[in-house]
Amino acid sequence: MSRTFVMVKPDGVRRGLVGRIVARLEAKGLALTALKLVAVSPAMAAQHYEEHRDKPFYPELVQFITAGPAVAMVWEGREAVAVVRGLMGVTDPAKAAPGTIRGDWALSITENLVHGADGEASADREMRIYFSDAELSAGTPRRPRD
Ligand code: RTP
Ligand code: MG
Repeated sequence: MSRTFVMVKPDGVRRGLVGRIVARLEAKGLALTALKLVAVSPAMAAQHYEEHRDKPFYPELVQFITAGPAVAMVWEGREAVAVVRGLMGVTDPAKAAPGTIRGDWALSITENLVHGADGEASADREMRIYFSDAELSAGTPRRPRD
């Protein structure tokens, strides 16, 4: 089992697509282990996107991700990082395959609805920006039903 960090970006919250995005990941068989609505601060955005600090699109990206509430989540399942990246589609929604989240519901490169960690190490690093240790352990292991 592996875990990944996923975010519904502010455009997804604003457009009312949170439920449908969550439903796609649930339907695939991934397990939701942490979730919160978060106002991403400039400091959190800088940590989250530190690998893009020198890119030309960085200021626009930080402006966008801090512009309204986002939904931070941790999902667990077999090959969770790669599975989520596949369900999201490629970065540019114009090139994302139909059937993917970006391919079906987005068109702007900046406002592309979702973020998914691109590896196990980044998943671990990113989920710790948004969740405490207690929040990260609350979802697993699952308690047996009463
Ligand atoms: P993400 O990190 O959000 O899951 O997206 P990604 O891996 O598919 O793409 P990445 O290269 O990590 O870029 C991060 C986010 O920056 C914005 N971006 N804008 N204007 C541009 O050329 C450009 N390129 C990237 C997108 O919001 C992208 O998701
Ligand atoms: Mg990325």
